[in-house]
Amino acid sequence: MSSVAATDEAPETAEFPIPAGVFAEKVTAVKHYTDRLFSFRMTRPQSFRFRSGEFVTIGLPNAVKPVFRAYSIASPAWDEELEFFSIKVPGGPLTEHLQKIKPGDTVLMRKKPTGTLVHDALVPGKRLYLFSTGTGIAPFASVIRDPETYEKFDQVILTQTCRENAELNYGRELVETTRNDELMSEFVGDKLLFHASSTREGEPRGERVTKLIESGKLFSDLGIAPLNPETDRAMICGSMAMLREIEGLLQARGFEEGANNKPGTYVVERAFVD
Ligand code: A2P
Repeated sequence: MSSVAATDEAPETAEFPIPAGVFAEKVTAVKHYTDRLFSFRMTRPQSFRFRSGEFVTIGLPNAVKPVFRAYSIASPAWDEELEFFSIKVPGGPLTEHLQKIKPGDTVLMRKKPTGTLVHDALVPGKRLYLFSTGTGIAPFASVIRDPETYEKFDQVILTQTCRENAELNYGRELVETTRNDELMSEFVGDKLLFHASSTREGEPRGERVTKLIESGKLFSDLGIAPLNPETDRAMICGSMAMLREIEGLLQARGFEEGANNKPGTYVVERAFVD
């Protein structure tokens, strides 16, 4: 007599019904950057609207009750597809499986986008700083590809701090393609600046963006004036420690946090941190 052991883990081939009230979209492209990072694109539901910088929750149809996690939409609001930039967490309930997706696979997405890294949460200014670590660059991949960003600001300064050099490649490619894109180059001109640093690799070793702000090296490297709450606005996305430190630096310089219902001079996304 043979018996099948009951396990919590469903076989990869099992089919589950799509839960009510979620979109089921098809993966169109996947690109792996390192053993910790990958990006993917998928179809966009025709009725789905969002503001550049917002996030959604996504999951996989691999269980009766799929695990959903918050993901920034990395593509801009005008793009006909949706793009995401993800970490691969060993044993992570979603990313363990998500990192294996291929074109044609299904990804689930809840219908309501939300978030604070949006123009509506900032008062008008001249320069926009976008501070990120790791996959925290994802919402800014959306913001820097939105023409509205360049209509509202004279200069856009994107920073990314990662552990390893190869982790900066998504951002490098993004900035390069945005500057050269047929549609976007007209808006971007020479307004978009990018400062990338890797802290655990490279000679000379890069520094955390917090250090670079404190020492002033960020501004001298880019040839721009230091942070000024009169003219500058900022968005922050990264680990909790990084958010806290950048907030401290901004507040010490007179910046005030904004929200959708009360715009300010800087905004933070806390949806992705523990
Ligand atoms: P470091 O290598 O000095 O820890 P993580 O993968 O741990 O989230 O880190 C991603 C990047 O963010 C790393 O380069 C890391 O630097 C940097 N980082 C970590 N904590 C902070 C912080 N409080 N402020 C700025 N950068 C940080």
